[in-house]
Amino acid sequence: MMTNRIAHAGLASKSRSAQDAAALIHDGMTVGMSGFTGSGYPKAVPLALADRMTAAHQAGDRFRVKIWTGASTGPELDGALAKADGVEFRLPYNSDPIARERINRGEMHYFDMHLSQVAPMAWQGFLGDLDVAVVEVTGITPDGDLIPSASVGNNKTWIDRAKGVILEVNRWQNPALEGMHDIYYGTALPPHRIPIPLVRADQRIGQPTFRCDPDKVIAVVETDAPDRNAPFSPPDAAAHAIAGHLLDFLGHEVRQGRLPASLLPLQSGVGNIANAVLSGLIDAPFDNMVAYTEVIQDGMLDLLESGKLRMASATAFSLSPEAAARLNSDMHRFRDKMLLRPQEISNHPELIRRLGCIAMNGLIEADIYGNVNSTHLMGSRIQNGIGGSGDFARNAYLSVFMTPSTAKGGAISAIVPHCSHVDHINQDVQVIVTEQGLADLRGLAPRQRAELIIARCAHPDFRPMLADYYARAQKGSFGLQSPMLPGEALAWHQRYIETGTMRG
Ligand code: COA
Repeated sequence: MMTNRIAHAGLASKSRSAQDAAALIHDGMTVGMSGFTGSGYPKAVPLALADRMTAAHQAGDRFRVKIWTGASTGPELDGALAKADGVEFRLPYNSDPIARERINRGEMHYFDMHLSQVAPMAWQGFLGDLDVAVVEVTGITPDGDLIPSASVGNNKTWIDRAKGVILEVNRWQNPALEGMHDIYYGTALPPHRIPIPLVRADQRIGQPTFRCDPDKVIAVVETDAPDRNAPFSPPDAAAHAIAGHLLDFLGHEVRQGRLPASLLPLQSGVGNIANAVLSGLIDAPFDNMVAYTEVIQDGMLDLLESGKLRMASATAFSLSPEAAARLNSDMHRFRDKMLLRPQEISNHPELIRRLGCIAMNGLIEADIYGNVNSTHLMGSRIQNGIGGSGDFARNAYLSVFMTPSTAKGGAISAIVPHCSHVDHINQDVQVIVTEQGLADLRGLAPRQRAELIIARCAHPDFRPMLADYYARAQKGSFGLQSPMLPGEALAWHQRYIETGTMRG
């Protein structure tokens, strides 16, 4: 176990202040930063960079950069840089409210992309060169290898691709993280791609550290600052009802012989409902479960602690401050039950398909045919991004989407005639669950799906409107495979924009 966080003499001699390190980043550069759902992101250099940007703008100079990350980060990165109006372009996922506002005001370009595709696309080259990587690590070994932090994300790729690397060595990160990572170096671009040799969620296929040429390191900054993830709100009645329907369904699938008694590797999306489902699994009759997922959130920690979950493979922690403190003080109990991998591996379609994951993700709206919108409000305003939901939904053994049946205090129906934006086509959506009930759409044709979704998932306040629309669509539609009245379907959203409610 580490005693000295920077055990490589050459790299220790590159120790700099955050301000000096940030001075190495210039207007127009592309910067690859670590960070995934509020963990493992650099906490000092981005703040110092934001100060430089603000000073430059005050002096009338341009200072904007392109930022690539793993996924969302923390307020010291996305929030600070967006506040300084220093981001020209951002990929691949954002949930920061200030950055979201800038994107929706058209002040920042945002390439919202499948998380498994970021590293391969960076290697393909069309995204351009990566000038600097700013990567948080837990420590540096005597050989100059880097001990990853609380997220792995795209760090391997950023370190390999960048012309210069700035390291933030964060003393706050638990030294017991050493050994919990599995960094696979076998990926390549076609025609040199080979099968990824992972056949079990708990399997190690790589090494515990990142390789990094010490000559590429241009600064090492020492920090001592916590990760910042938002706390989860306690599950409300709707979340409990959704979890109940889904767990009943999984039990039914086991009894039918379509799922093993320990289920299949679980993937759980972001948000309070996903967390409530994980909590519900503690009392459910499934043992010896494993998770092959993107993030380890509070509910998963509880499941591990209960012994019901044998192990979890992910790319990052996404824990509330309380859960992060619990993990940190009890790391020895958890560390052999968790593996963190690069996101191109945690989210790899080949592996999700091979392992047969059960994907459980949130949604913004679903239409009566089972198409799902995960990203845009009213068709145009980005909420977060597609994240890993597409990686998992398309390739899962069982693809589940869940949501309360209404939003905005009941003014909006989450079940609509036609999604205002589609992230997941109906072929990738097998089950939809709301607090009203569950629709198992597997093997159903569009008109069969419409009847089931309206009956099982829609809120009673909106069910008559949807049934009425669907009845009229069957009379006035151009074709009857997926009946639709185009003008009226999208008028649902226009009605909300004009009156603040979707009700007729
Ligand atoms: N129409 C308009 N607004 C809607 C809406 C709808 N149909 N559904 C939700 N909203 C609004 C909510 O009111 C809320 O707005 P507010 O913050 O102003 O109150 C906001 O969207 C977020 O909704 P909430 O219910 O709090 O979201 P959540 O925490 O359950 O997350 C998603 C739902 C879809 C936003 C989230 O799951 C997500 O970002 N998914 C995409 C990425 C993903 O699936 N990643 C996991 C893969 S590993």
